[in-house]
Amino acid sequence: MESDARKNLIRILQNAHAGEMAAAYAYRGHWKSLKHSAERQRIKQIEAEEWTHRENVARWLEKFGAKPNRWREKIFWTIGRSLGLTCYVSGWFFPMYFAGRLESQNVQEYVDAAEFAKEIEMPDCFEEMMEMSRIEGEHEIFFRQTVTGHRLLPLTKRFFRWS
Ligand SMILES: [Fe+2]
Ligand SMILES: [Fe+2]
Repeated sequence: MESDARKNLIRILQNAHAGEMAAAYAYRGHWKSLKHSAERQRIKQIEAEEWTHRENVARWLEKFGAKPNRWREKIFWTIGRSLGLTCYVSGWFFPMYFAGRLESQNVQEYVDAAEFAKEIEMPDCFEEMMEMSRIEGEHEIFFRQTVTGHRLLPLTKRFFRWS
């Protein structure tokens, strides 16, 4: 059983390692497309937090003797860069909505990782995963507040199921 938990944890870390990069590039494109404002500053800060997460995840992968998944890294690099560019053309609402939706998935991803870390009795890893989950929760709240009240929200919610 222990090896299952370990394998699952490594798989989540590999996914997160690629996912954090995609998120960071997407946010970079997004804040650069905005005018100077508190919102722009906050998204810039969120980008920095995603890079920190990626470093944390890399450190744990190394401790487990595992490596990032090379193909996943390439695919998510492309996704992140494309989303980052899209921010210049798609307008304000959709990048924010999808950012919020992504963040809510990340919250759960790190909680799952923490559970597996607990199962294999690695309290340090557990703590760090829970802390990253908490930060993702703050990101989610920020993006949720940003889209609240937007005229496109009710319709988009129906299609993409995040609110
Ligand atoms: Fe993150
Ligand atoms: Fe995040």
